[in-house]
Amino acid sequence: MFPLELPFATQFYLDLYVVTFVVHLLLMFYVFAGTFHLAVFGGAESTTAAGRINETVRDWLPFALSAAITAGIAPLLFIQLLYQFDYYTANVLLSHRWMSILPILIVAFYGLYLLKMKLFVKTRPWLDRLIACFVFLCILYVGYTFSENHLLSVQSKTVWATHYASGRIFYWTSEILPRVATILGQAFSSTAIVWYWQISMQQRQKQQEIPQDLPRRLAYLSTAGLIISLVAFIYYCLAVSKNWYPGNSTDEASQLLKQPYIYLYVCGLFFQIWWWATIAIDPQRISFASWFLAGASALTLLMGAMVREQYRVSRIVTDNLLQLHQHHLMAEGKWLFLAFTIIHTLLICWLIYVTRKAIHASVQQTKR
Ligand code: HEM
Repeated sequence: MFPLELPFATQFYLDLYVVTFVVHLLLMFYVFAGTFHLAVFGGAESTTAAGRINETVRDWLPFALSAAITAGIAPLLFIQLLYQFDYYTANVLLSHRWMSILPILIVAFYGLYLLKMKLFVKTRPWLDRLIACFVFLCILYVGYTFSENHLLSVQSKTVWATHYASGRIFYWTSEILPRVATILGQAFSSTAIVWYWQISMQQRQKQQEIPQDLPRRLAYLSTAGLIISLVAFIYYCLAVSKNWYPGNSTDEASQLLKQPYIYLYVCGLFFQIWWWATIAIDPQRISFASWFLAGASALTLLMGAMVREQYRVSRIVTDNLLQLHQHHLMAEGKWLFLAFTIIHTLLICWLIYVTRKAIHASVQQTKR
């Protein structure tokens, strides 16, 4: 079945996995780019574009982190259905990685609340920056761990056995760095659009203009991130096709290079770079380009996720697993699942509606 020529049941779970994974990535990107911005540009004046971005992310980061974590649950459920033994959270090779991210995310949460409360901005600005740097490193570590986890999980059982027998905690392969750079380099492009929308909305409410240098600043950050991501991805493909990393085969790589998703993914990156470059030249374009860029960024991530899964499916999925997926699809409970999905979606929409109404009412009251 399209798009990966798999049987219906497997493709059904895989599509659900890929879509929910992209939602997780988009929210996680906000947290990554936001903490990076506070760590590097935390001292900017509040009247500048950098200062406005800092104000906005300080306010939204605790929510964004909880949303990113919550959005991680759905792909986590589907991935366990899809790959079973190779991706059980409780499997012995992966469990300590999972356990290590819990305390780190809890500490990151407290750090983000300290930043939101602006406790040290005036009295000890260096401490505020230090907290921002610390939280950024926590988030980077979590991303790194997921990549390490992923790379170990797609290795053969012989590699698992050797790794387990050696007693090492971390699985190190030079493949991790270009992989992390490829994924996280895209964080700025999608997040920059959200920052632009958030700041425009806030300024509209205050009946003020957005800072003049905002579009250019967003364009520079996004272009730099996308170029890092593109270069890392090209290097990664080259390394895999030349068999530089242990555990990959040149056959697998050449199969992958024959698929259209990889080219669509690269086109998506180029398309975004081109649009951001035009915004850097003519900042006025941002208001309509933001919609193209939002779509392009989501589609590029979707294509990237397809490439990622194609590789894993070719390595892990056996006939037994295909039968198991079919069996799961026939299991009782899917109507109940669907009913709860609809109920929860409606509840979320209702909450958004009620909150927006309350915000609108309070803005009207302040105006009076
Ligand atoms: C802010 C903290 C987090 C960051 C920065 C983060 C980052 C990432 C990254 C970079 C990947 C891609 C790894 C790769 O392909 O190499 C990933 C995958 C994933 N993340 Fe997160 N993540 C975070 C929190 C979470 C949490 C708390 C959960 C679970 C509740 C979660 C669930 C997942 C799942 C299921 C995948 C797919 C793993 C795979 O396919 O191998 N993430 N995450």
